[in-house]
Amino acid sequence: MQAGLEDLPDISRIAAEVHAGYPESDAVFSNRLSLFEPGCFVCRMGKQIVGYLISHPWRCGQPVPLDTELTALPQGADCLYLHDIALLPAARGKGASSLALQAVKQVARQAGLPVISLVALPGTEAYWSRQGFEARPCTSLESYGPGVSYRERGIL
Ligand SMILES: CC(C)(COP(=O)(O)OP(=O)(O)OC[C@H]1O[C@@H](n2cnc3c(N)ncnc32)[C@H](O)[C@@H]1OP(=O)(O)O)[C@@H](O)C(=O)NCCC(=O)NCCS
Repeated sequence: MQAGLEDLPDISRIAAEVHAGYPESDAVFSNRLSLFEPGCFVCRMGKQIVGYLISHPWRCGQPVPLDTELTALPQGADCLYLHDIALLPAARGKGASSLALQAVKQVARQAGLPVISLVALPGTEAYWSRQGFEARPCTSLESYGPGVSYRERGIL
């Protein structure tokens, strides 16, 4: 379901647990929610928020450096950038990521963006390949450290 600014504490808590090696400040999540709330989702199990997905319009081939606030969305965006998807371990393997990716495709379609892009963290390459995301050349990924890849797929 759609995320709002009131979900920030839960998003931060999950990010800290799931992405300990790739820390981002609360300001980054708040920034994305403020710039493009329609691209931000949370996953609930009962009353608990157990996952989130953050995305926003962006430009192909230009992954956003880790832990960086954006001043604005770009003119002439040509992709929906999947900033992050994270599920707590108890929420995995239940189809939530498939639902989240369907929601993202719908957002991209509605925004007229033909491509979804992302940075695949180490250990997730096989997952993203199976979801149809292929490695593509891009600007620097240095802020993420070794073992990451920039990927894109069309929304069809
Ligand atoms: C990546 C993530 C969102 C996937 O969610 P999930 O609920 O575990 O995924 P699903 O169970 O829907 O998996 C779909 C398929 O991908 C496979 N898969 C899941 N994680 C995988 C991985 N790391 N490598 C290879 N395959 C994987 C599953 O086995 C499943 O296969 P199936 O369709 O044959 O059953 C979740 O594992 C997660 O939050 N991981 C930690 C955060 C993270 O790495 N986020 C991505 C940052 S780039």
